[in-house]
Amino acid sequence: MEIINIKPKFNLQNGSFHIVVWGCQMNVYDADRIRDLMRASGYVELNEPNNADVIILITCAVRAKAEDKVFNQIKNWRHLKIIRDDTIIAFGGCVGSELAHEIVKFDPSIGVVFGPRTTHRLPSLISQYRSTGQSVVDVSADALEKFDTLPEQGLRGPSAFVTIMEGCSNKCTYCIVPHTRGQEDSRPVQDILDEVLNHIGHGVKEIHLLGQNVNSYRGLGEDGQIVRFSTLLYEVAAIPGVERIRFTTSNPMEFTDDIIKAIEDLPTIASAIHIPVQSGSDKVLADMQRNYTSDDYREIIRKLRLARPDILISTDIIVGFPTETEADFEETMRLVNDVKFDLSFSFIYSVRPGTEAALLQDPVDQNTKKQRLYILQKRLEELANEYSKGLIGSTQEVLVEGFSKKDKSELKARASNNRIVVFEGDECLIGNIVKVKINSVLGHTLKGEMI
Ligand code: SAH
Ligand code: SF4
Ligand code: F3S
Repeated sequence: MEIINIKPKFNLQNGSFHIVVWGCQMNVYDADRIRDLMRASGYVELNEPNNADVIILITCAVRAKAEDKVFNQIKNWRHLKIIRDDTIIAFGGCVGSELAHEIVKFDPSIGVVFGPRTTHRLPSLISQYRSTGQSVVDVSADALEKFDTLPEQGLRGPSAFVTIMEGCSNKCTYCIVPHTRGQEDSRPVQDILDEVLNHIGHGVKEIHLLGQNVNSYRGLGEDGQIVRFSTLLYEVAAIPGVERIRFTTSNPMEFTDDIIKAIEDLPTIASAIHIPVQSGSDKVLADMQRNYTSDDYREIIRKLRLARPDILISTDIIVGFPTETEADFEETMRLVNDVKFDLSFSFIYSVRPGTEAALLQDPVDQNTKKQRLYILQKRLEELANEYSKGLIGSTQEVLVEGFSKKDKSELKARASNNRIVVFEGDECLIGNIVKVKINSVLGHTLKGEMI
């Protein structure tokens, strides 16, 4: 009998993929789960895009610049011939669901478009494209379906993200996220606890809970009752082996007293909270439909600091919102000086098609916006530096994440207040929480010695 060895054009068992991630931590979580899924489906991960059979893009649509980056990257890869005729691009993430069918027109290699809710279908979408040669676009699904069908997670290092809810049902007028990730849905409590337990079993020490608004979490408990975020915090903290808990992002709108009480009660909750304020002007906050005032925000911070005096607060601020006047911007600066934020993010307002704010007249010219951003970032930088200097001489409990990128003889760790700490130490400390005395600062990084 003659054996004809035909090499199939696509060999699922031996296919390789490379994944690139932009955007927020929710994308990082999705990307990690896609890695597990692709491996379970017989793919091998490559660290570089060259020679990958499938290039997976997990994209962000929050600002126009984030979106442009992805398309420029594809153009560049094509120019460098990293994308070959038989390379398949699987275009996912928030731009995937935002632009859906439009994307396949951009480059002939885009074989699959998927969204944050359809990550679990990726291997079968790729197979479908391979067998038909027709681009496949699949961006909508029940929010929680993916969590039920993704394979168990692999090793993650000492800190792991756990998404507790998908989507957002708020109506901030500038924001594309509800359009890209859909309406808010919370995962059932037990699913979250099982995922935490699985991580702890793999040696994880720090659990980082994720959602667009974690404090509006309303998940089903075992008894069928709705469980609030504060209760979830107590339940996660009660799992033996959970040494540190972080959560991102909290919206000031629902930062209720029960959450502040949990932060006071649970020392495992890290001493760093990210609460995006967006603006210090009540008029702009109303135009953004944020549903709180700058004084509401100040009050939350006052209570948090009363509960945990060492807590560092970080935030997100948008400058140049269409209705922002010079006086409004000064209100933002006043709030920044009152609250004294640590390491924070600030952006120039970016028009997002389909959002309510995109319909507003925008009289503020780009140079004025850039000037405001410069003033704001300069002040935020000063405040972060002041905090850094204030930490010299203190002792920090740090979770050792690995080797320092700059100097492989040093270890890189993260303090409870979220600052990166580098110090000399043995490899065996990786994955453990140790005490380090801070001796100096290097940019925003703290340098110290183990005690
Ligand atoms: N859910 C979080 C924010 C998620 S988006 C919250 O409500 O706080 C992350 C950040 O991107 C936002 O906090 C905001 O500062 C920024 N952002 C969102 N849309 C933007 C836009 N159209 N232009 C500029 N920045 C934007
Ligand atoms: Fe966007 Fe507002 Fe939802 Fe945050 S709360 S994701 S800013 S709509
Ligand atoms: Fe970007 Fe989507 Fe996150 S738009 S910020 S990746 S939710």
